[in-house]
Amino acid sequence: MKLKIAVLPGDGIGPEIMNVALDVLKAVCEKYNHELEYKTALVGACAIDATGNPYPEETHQLCMESDAVLFGATGSPKYDNDPTAKVRPEQGLLAMRKRLGLYANIRPVTTFKSLVKKSPLRTDLIDGADFMCIRELTGGMYFGRPQGRSEDGKTAYDTCVYSTYEIERIVRLAYEFALKRRKKVTVVDKANVLATSRLWRQVSKEIAKDYPDVTTEFLFVDNAAMRIIQWPKDFDVLVTENMFGDILTDEGSVITGSLGMLPSASIGEHTSVFEPIHGSWPQAAGKDIANPLATVLSAAMMLEYAFNLKDEALLIREAVEASLSAKFVTGDIAEQGEPSYKTSEVGKWLVDYVSKH
Ligand code: IPM
Ligand code: MN
Repeated sequence: MKLKIAVLPGDGIGPEIMNVALDVLKAVCEKYNHELEYKTALVGACAIDATGNPYPEETHQLCMESDAVLFGATGSPKYDNDPTAKVRPEQGLLAMRKRLGLYANIRPVTTFKSLVKKSPLRTDLIDGADFMCIRELTGGMYFGRPQGRSEDGKTAYDTCVYSTYEIERIVRLAYEFALKRRKKVTVVDKANVLATSRLWRQVSKEIAKDYPDVTTEFLFVDNAAMRIIQWPKDFDVLVTENMFGDILTDEGSVITGSLGMLPSASIGEHTSVFEPIHGSWPQAAGKDIANPLATVLSAAMMLEYAFNLKDEALLIREAVEASLSAKFVTGDIAEQGEPSYKTSEVGKWLVDYVSKH
């Protein structure tokens, strides 16, 4: 099979973790006789520096022409510390999501046996937790207009907007996933306060009727935030709007053991994008210390979701599990008193595993 992918390393640690993911992909393709064809393009702060645009037209064209996009990370302190900056790196990611129509962001939260001890949460509570967050990605406060400042600059506003259509397509997707899993959907909203949330609840209740075999639960987001860390094993498929999903999935990473472990898939109308959920960790850029596993696991999701290559994806996941068991890991997940390894060393270990298994 020919895999035509767009590679967008982005900013900060993006290029380093992407190199590892690409090496692992190459090894898998070699083993299974797939032809990997990839082209690299700019996005985020590096794209602003080179072109003035965080999501250049050239990058968009490449994404549109590819079968899948592998994305590294975006963000730079240069812009974080300047609230008046007119163009921001994150706008590149948002523009990409909007223009590719990526309305569903799928973030699996699972535990790895060898990492449960790394979580600050009690082992008996999290061991075996396995749920899927489905975050709406092209609506809500991220994209609602008007957004901005009053003329005197002393008031700022964001607008949260959702249409029935936007809610319906994502909630349906959540039910479809639940059918293939443990058949439970948790709809997270703030229906006691927000009008958009009340529409979410109303639409979800209608859709629930089409899935009688699936149990539906509604939770307010504040309550959900608590239950996720208290009883993570209660969740199967969690579906929610853009901003709530952003926050709850960072929280979910605590269950996994490190933010450096969570992959994601963004799917929708055009080419799907696969990316780690973490940021660009600028302080670590160029130091070869970042955990590449979230990006490697995102590459596995890409093989499964975009190309239906399940064995290949499984081999990558096995390699990751094996590296954890062998304690061949970066500093963020190394046990106290145990050695830690560089990003590139972990990469070599994974490639070696893939080639030998
Ligand atoms: C994420 C990130 C992005 C988001 C940022 C970088 C714009 O935090 O993918 O979760 O908020 O969606
Ligand atoms: Mn986030």
